[in-house]
Amino acid sequence: MTDPVVPAIVNLDVPGPVISRHLYGHFAEHLGRCIYGGFYVGEDSDLPHAGGIRLDVVAALRALDIPNLRWPGGCFADEYHWMDGIGPKERRPSMVNTHWGNVEENNHFGTHEFMALCELLGAEPYISGNVGSGTVREMSDWVEYLTRDGDSPMVRLRRANGREQPWRVRFWGLGNEAWGCGGHMRAEQYAAEARRYGTYCRDHGGNTLYRVAAGANGADYAWTETLMKQLGDLGCAYRPAPFMQALSFHHYTIPGTWQDKGAATVFGTDDHYRTMVQAARVDELITGHSNVMDCYDPGGNVGLVLDEWGTWWNVEPGTNPGFLYQQNTLRDALVASLHFDVFHRHARRLVMANIAQTVNVLQAMILTDPGSGALVLTPTYHVFEMNKGHQDAVSLRVDLPAGTPERAVGDARLATVSMSASRKDGRALFSLSNLDADEPAEVELDLRGGALAEVSARILTAGRLQDHNTPDAPETVAPRPYEVRATRAGLRVRLPAHSFVTVTGRLAAGSGT
Ligand code: AHR
Repeated sequence: MTDPVVPAIVNLDVPGPVISRHLYGHFAEHLGRCIYGGFYVGEDSDLPHAGGIRLDVVAALRALDIPNLRWPGGCFADEYHWMDGIGPKERRPSMVNTHWGNVEENNHFGTHEFMALCELLGAEPYISGNVGSGTVREMSDWVEYLTRDGDSPMVRLRRANGREQPWRVRFWGLGNEAWGCGGHMRAEQYAAEARRYGTYCRDHGGNTLYRVAAGANGADYAWTETLMKQLGDLGCAYRPAPFMQALSFHHYTIPGTWQDKGAATVFGTDDHYRTMVQAARVDELITGHSNVMDCYDPGGNVGLVLDEWGTWWNVEPGTNPGFLYQQNTLRDALVASLHFDVFHRHARRLVMANIAQTVNVLQAMILTDPGSGALVLTPTYHVFEMNKGHQDAVSLRVDLPAGTPERAVGDARLATVSMSASRKDGRALFSLSNLDADEPAEVELDLRGGALAEVSARILTAGRLQDHNTPDAPETVAPRPYEVRATRAGLRVRLPAHSFVTVTGRLAAGSGT
């Protein structure tokens, strides 16, 4: 039997919207071993570190060009009081992290440590302020402490703690999941709070904040509408409000129930397809929120931010249920590649996305062994690395005139081939995923308006969807060089079952700018 052939047309000279690099953003919460034992090993650690920040973690993430890092939560953000995390460590008060494991938080990783981490990573900070249990003054002071120059009470405090110059902080979250752990607020109530908090988070000097209001849970479009109504006048009369520049929403891929989400490494083919259907739902959700936003803001001034996404499985057996530690297989990698194709298609409205979470929590890039300290790069890490050429690239639309192969999954239909493309710096990059557990596929890429030279490709796949990396077998799922065939029209790309392939090439002269 021959593989199904999927015709795909890409006009290399028809630019779409720019894919913000911030769609490749990350998230680090004070949760489990993400900060402590992940990013931060403390100043007494034998592992190579800078001020307690683990340097091999930094090096691995630098290779991804991570654009921004969201911190300190998540749910933790709404019980975090930033002043507890500055000054000499031995004098910082402790607190109980009631959301995540009821463990004691000693506040040794605070504002200065986070900003040092961002500097080491070359990533922009995205700070989530505390609306749920904080005060307007507390948040306003934090912004002043971080970003103000000259002389003021918060500037003097920052200087006393050893930092002369202000930092540049653009992205600022006004709380998190205000409908849930962030205060169980109603949409109208939160919208009023966000206006107030957003007002007193000032732009100091040359530092202009990009304030992100805490948005909807999944498909709660009414929440988005309530926030949009606060932001300005309806429709074409819209003028951006000064106190909120974006709103967020969260979507996790959980194919099971909340009580039994499914195991990360032990699953069957049906579970795999249900997972892919859940992941693909992000397209419907971004479309839904964007449609609501378009009614109020047709000019696209207000950004949509998906600041938590990824798979959420049962914790690994024997680990603390409050620490959300899970393994990461080839299936997780395909969830990530599918999300990125969707993100690229929505690049006009979607300005930022943050996978949850970077190290040792949920769909992580990096897992570290608590005993030996060994560091493992997950299959998801490799998708971020293989796709990094899309950051700040011009998106190219992919037309699939005959559709793609599909599978029936319960009442849903899953398109099993997914693609996206972009161009940047004289090169084109194509990402292709075959989500089918068993069947290969072939994509016939019809490249119009230009031509490619010096084509190369890489593939991420493994014998089984359940395959993953461990300290003993760190390269079970890792990218390998791959061959694609040049054709008269463009390229023929074979996609083995459950695989992710990237193809790149130099745009020959005359292929648009
Ligand atoms: O990422 C884990 C948690 O999921 C976050 O703290 C919260 O915002 C979400 O519910």
